Amino acid sequence: MKKIGVLVSGGGTNLQALIDAQGTVIKNGEIVTVVSNKEGVYALERAKNAGIDAHVITRKECGSKEAFDIALRDYMQKMGVDVVVLAGFLAILGENFLAAYKDKIVNIHPSLIPSFCGDGFYGLHVHEAALEYGVKVTGATAHLVNEITDGGRILLQKAVEIQDGDTPEILQKRVMEQAEWIILPQAVELVCKGEV
Ligand code: GAR
Repeated sequence: MKKIGVLVSGGGTNLQALIDAQGTVIKNGEIVTVVSNKEGVYALERAKNAGIDAHVITRKECGSKEAFDIALRDYMQKMGVDVVVLAGFLAILGENFLAAYKDKIVNIHPSLIPSFCGDGFYGLHVHEAALEYGVKVTGATAHLVNEITDGGRILLQKAVEIQDGDTPEILQKRVMEQAEWIILPQAVELVCKGEV
């Protein structure tokens, strides 16, 4: 059984999908800790409700980006984490963290990479950009994390249709329901199983 550490920054619906997939889709891993870089986010409540360790590490309290990276890495290692999942984690990880978890970090991004990704494309901004461009199909991508933002190896993708009258909020919800919450647990299982 691999030990999974989940990094979050917000509401945590992808975290919830991972919690709900334990024992079914995720057979070779178990979530041992949830770490947020923001205080008071609902994802922390979801962790506590599931009886999972919930911890906060902010960049501010660490002083520098490098110290933040090291604090995150050290906490994951202290908890014995083998596989890291970025589930709506909106900070960029640096080399100190990445080197410790090479090919063991999975991110979920709410578009079909290489569209609408990279620096500045996160959360609702991604869906605003897709609607502005006028694409008819979007989706989500689960991928490994490396030093290039949203540039690591793609594990799974799922397409979602854009409909007339979509707002960024409506589209975000559809992409989550039809793609993110399905492919993220599947991709995490692939890494836990060692099939990547
Ligand atoms: C999700 O849509 C996730 O794909 C996105 O943030 C949202 C978090 O929601 N992540 C990114 O944009 C990463 N670049 P959640 O907290 O409810 O899972």
